[in-house]
Amino acid sequence: MAIRTIIENGDPILRKTAKEVEVVDERIKVLVEDMIETLHKYNGVGLAAPQVGILKRVIVIDTYDGSDVLVLINPKIIKTKGEQTVEEGCLSFPNQYAKVVRPKEVIVEALNEKGEKIRVEGKELLAQALMHEIDHLNGILFVDLMIPGTMEIVEPNNQD
Ligand code: NI
Repeated sequence: MAIRTIIENGDPILRKTAKEVEVVDERIKVLVEDMIETLHKYNGVGLAAPQVGILKRVIVIDTYDGSDVLVLINPKIIKTKGEQTVEEGCLSFPNQYAKVVRPKEVIVEALNEKGEKIRVEGKELLAQALMHEIDHLNGILFVDLMIPGTMEIVEPNNQD
């Protein structure tokens, strides 16, 4: 396992469309392990493979509610419902937060890290994270959706 470098806003990789994973092989499993380690290192809720420079449709999400980290390969949005206005940030935009409108509920189908088909029903924070990370696979960033004038810069606490 290894921490990967997170690509920050301004790098054109973040604007590219990621490719479908054809086979969930050992390389994908290593990528997933590294992405989870990187996500936790930076206390993120979600991370998409393009953010570590890999243009593959892989995302990891941890909402820190006690359940396992979600690993979604080739995620597809099946259904969305409702609306929520939420504060959002992104590991590629350190210390920046803005308000966005997201669906309140979403159903996603994907493969897990074992290559098995899974279906995830997310509400609230999980719905927000699923939409945010799937957007990354399509080169869409939260600042594209932000409600104008809501961007805030929050200086980090030096807690390391
Ligand atoms: Ni992000």
